[in-house]
Amino acid sequence: MRILLIGFGVVGQSFAKLVLARRSELMKVHGLNTRVVGVVDKGGAAVASPELDLAEVLDAKSSGGTVAASKHGIRNASALDLISELDVDVVVETTPTNIKTGQPGLSHIEAALKLKRNVVTTNKGPLALALPELVELARYNNVALLFSGTVGGGTPILDFGKRCLASDRLVMVEGILNGTTNFILTSMEAEGKSFNEALEDAKKLGYAEADPTLDVEGWDTACKTVIIANWLMGREVTLKDLTVEGITHVTKSEVEGAKRKGKSVKLVGRVAERIDVKPRLIDRSDPLCISGTLNAVRFVSQYAGDEIIIGKGAGGMETASAILRDLLEVKYHMSQRWYG
Ligand code: HSE
Repeated sequence: MRILLIGFGVVGQSFAKLVLARRSELMKVHGLNTRVVGVVDKGGAAVASPELDLAEVLDAKSSGGTVAASKHGIRNASALDLISELDVDVVVETTPTNIKTGQPGLSHIEAALKLKRNVVTTNKGPLALALPELVELARYNNVALLFSGTVGGGTPILDFGKRCLASDRLVMVEGILNGTTNFILTSMEAEGKSFNEALEDAKKLGYAEADPTLDVEGWDTACKTVIIANWLMGREVTLKDLTVEGITHVTKSEVEGAKRKGKSVKLVGRVAERIDVKPRLIDRSDPLCISGTLNAVRFVSQYAGDEIIIGKGAGGMETASAILRDLLEVKYHMSQRWYG
């Protein structure tokens, strides 16, 4: 499987490390031969056929600051040029989330789908702004658009809802979908920290978005909620259709008051009749009431009832593991075989 990797930050580099660590096992167990032929970052690209030496590209990135410092480097190469010039099976898009325009990820994904390339992305922005159109574009061109790493990091939240509950009817999905805000609320509750103290700790942990207002004002949760609404519940919505409220106004005394009543304040994205994101009070005995940076999602389906999935919601390796999951899906789809 020939891959073009766009974006070489934490997630892109983790993906390269994971491929290096697991390639022989993936080949043996799944027949998945991951060959990364191009990597693009802000400084340029590295391109080689039949494949790049990912260890060398990682070294070049760490010593030279860009993949263009690789021995196969090309300064100022553009992602859009490479999407059209390279003959690849999959474009893996890992550029940072931009919820205002979706760019540059949106253009990369559109260009790749129009050229009939399968796309795997971890970028929430393009999906939150244009998921219905992108799904339509992928279907029209008969290629896959997969994004399991956008919700829940490595925890297979989207796959569980899409695959395991496909024969049922989801009536409601709600979840704690943002590790940063859950860490902040947990620190306020368990350690009596103020919102600002807890936010500083969360930033150090490396989970927060480059712009942490996306976390604390609820927009990261909103992106994930839009993805759930479209992908799992057939709603054709984008970010502008949601009511979004973050946790910036939640005070220490509100958190302590809730605790005295056996409840916790949690930022919840919910898809029911209405679709919204807001702080809600959850019983501390409810399994949804997780602490720290975990994510938890409750699926309420008509016949199977309630199920909850809990797991780490972010992290480079965790998200890279979701990319591999999607690549396997593309592989099985391409070879029209079942798993196993
Ligand atoms: N900033 C996000 C979070 C990262 O805190 O959950 C994962 O999407």
